[in-house]
Amino acid sequence: MSDVKSNTGKSWFYSETVKDHFFNPRNILKTKKEAEKYSKKADGEGEVGSPACGDVMKIWIKVKNEKIIECKYQTFGCASAIAATSMFSTMVIGMKIDNALKITAKDITVKLGGLPARKFHCSVLADQAFKKAIKNYRKNQ
Ligand code: FES
Repeated sequence: MSDVKSNTGKSWFYSETVKDHFFNPRNILKTKKEAEKYSKKADGEGEVGSPACGDVMKIWIKVKNEKIIECKYQTFGCASAIAATSMFSTMVIGMKIDNALKITAKDITVKLGGLPARKFHCSVLADQAFKKAIKNYRKNQ
């Protein structure tokens, strides 16, 4: 049985892909210092979520010729949020903005080999913060 089928929301287990991205997150900014330094050179940034409950996601992007060349993030979210955003960052780098904006939370979840149903909202954070970062980038143009 594939990870996607086995992870219909009843399973308590994460797919191997989720575990890989959680334990080795790609493109994450690990410290406040790293985030402060990166935010100065980023072309756009977007934040979603509520600091009160901890589901916060902040994404920074760098853009060249309408293409995403870097996508970095920090989050207070859970393991699923880290894995989903890590996966999302690998998906958008190299994409034209218009194509990257078409990526949905479901696309991220499929790439991860599924997420428990109650964890689906964690993958929405990446997608929403990214959209805000693009808005911010466009505003600065
Ligand atoms: Fe809220 Fe994952 S970010 S449970």
